[in-house]
This record gives sequence, structure tokens and C-alpha cells, in this order.
Amino acid sequence: MKGALLYEGKAKQVYEAKDATGKLILSYKNDATAFNGEKKSVFPGKGRLNNEIAAHIFSMLQDQGVKTHFIERLNETEQLVWQTEIIPLEVVVRNVAAGSITKRLGIEEKTVLEPPIVELFYKDDALGDPLINDEHALLVASITQAELQEIKTKALAINIHLQHIFQAIRIQLVDFKLEFGRLACGSIVLADEVSPDTCRLWDVATFEKLDKDVFRQGTGDLLTVYEEILNRLEEQK
Ligand code: C5P
Repeated sequence: MKGALLYEGKAKQVYEAKDATGKLILSYKNDATAFNGEKKSVFPGKGRLNNEIAAHIFSMLQDQGVKTHFIERLNETEQLVWQTEIIPLEVVVRNVAAGSITKRLGIEEKTVLEPPIVELFYKDDALGDPLINDEHALLVASITQAELQEIKTKALAINIHLQHIFQAIRIQLVDFKLEFGRLACGSIVLADEVSPDTCRLWDVATFEKLDKDVFRQGTGDLLTVYEEILNRLEEQK
């Protein structure tokens, strides 16, 4: 049962889980935002799609031994997770150039990045989530050098698992953003969500974009492509 609303973000609300110490309920909203909230829209049904997709992916990652905050999907739009203190870093892993790296470094879209590139952004809306280096991360995120290394190593290991998960459904994992959280015991686990809101997912045969870029770029219907991802994941079961 849902307790008090603790936090509301752009895509999710976070509630206390009543009678369940140390657990939270994530409630996925139908809102889509891009460009740090400058572009906004509501897509009825998006919350269900992201909740179901993220639940699938977190379950598969857990089956592969990745420690995450995910406990269970509760209903269409909500999931139960362990409470963590979110580390204010957006950890982006890139296998193929797209999005901000193409503009920042003048690299052509679709250029394969081998080995994959890990980038850190400071999770701060007011500052526009700036790209930061390791020393900045140690300064702003209250983590040790060893923990930063652990986060990067985990992000690259998760990349391998996610590549396999998406390859199996004929999708190329171009890039994605992860967030990590600290459990009460101190250990660091994967938190937040992994969904078409936070990944670039291209059909391997057609290069069709099956992620939030269709909304960012106004090139397709968000609900149709998210549904396609969910259907392909469900076919796998
Ligand atoms: O915009 P950029 O190319 O840096 O994004 C890299 C990846 O991180 C993309 O998959 C994007 O969806 C994701 N991302 C995100 N949340 C942000 C910024 C980027 O999920 N605030």
C-alpha cells in the first residue's frame, strides 16, 4: 500500500511503501519530457509501458547476477523497490555514436565506439546535467575513488548484459543512461529505470529508432515504438 509521496520527478513519482520499512513504490507517469524539460507531452499509457519494460529488464539483469533496487512489479504502473540514496550521477554508456556526443565531438552518427565509452553527467536539473570528469564526480557525488571505479565497472558489465538482452529481440543498444543508489547497508546497486526513455534502441535490420528520440525529434509515435519494445520482450519469455 502506498504511503506518503516522497518525491516527484519528470517521469515517476516515489512513494513510501506502507508497512514495508526500507521499501519504496515507484509510480510511472504518462509524461514525456526532453531537452531538460523544455519539450513536454502526455502520452496516456506510457507509464504502463515503461513500468512493464523496466520490470522485465531489471528482472533479467537480476537473473544475470546484477544487484538492483527492483523487488517486484505491483500493478500496471507501479513497482516496489528497495529504498536507496541516489548517487547524483548519470552514467552514460555508448556503443555507437548518437545524440550529444555527435555534437560535442563532431563524430558522425552510427560510428561504432569500440571499446564502449562511459561518460558521467552531474544529475542537477538547475545546471542542465553537465558532463563532468572523475575528479568532479568525487567532488559532487560524495563517493570514494574506489566506489567511482565500481560504478564504472558495473556500468560496463550491465552494458554486456543489456546488449545480449536487446540482441535477442533484434535491437542494437546504441547508448543508455544508468543511475546507481546506495542501500542502507552501504552497498551500491543499479536504481532508477532502464526503458526506451533512457536508452537508444535501433532495429538491427532497418535502423528504425524505437526509443524516446521519436519524441525528441518528432519523427514517430512514442507509444507505438514503446509497445513494439514491450511486445518483443514479452515474445522472449
Ligand atoms: O543526450 P545524450 O546523447 O547524452 O544521451 C545519452 C543516453 O542517455 C540516451 O540513451 C538518453 O536517452 C539517455 N539520457 C537519459 N536521461 C538524461 C540524459 C540522457 O536517459 N537526462
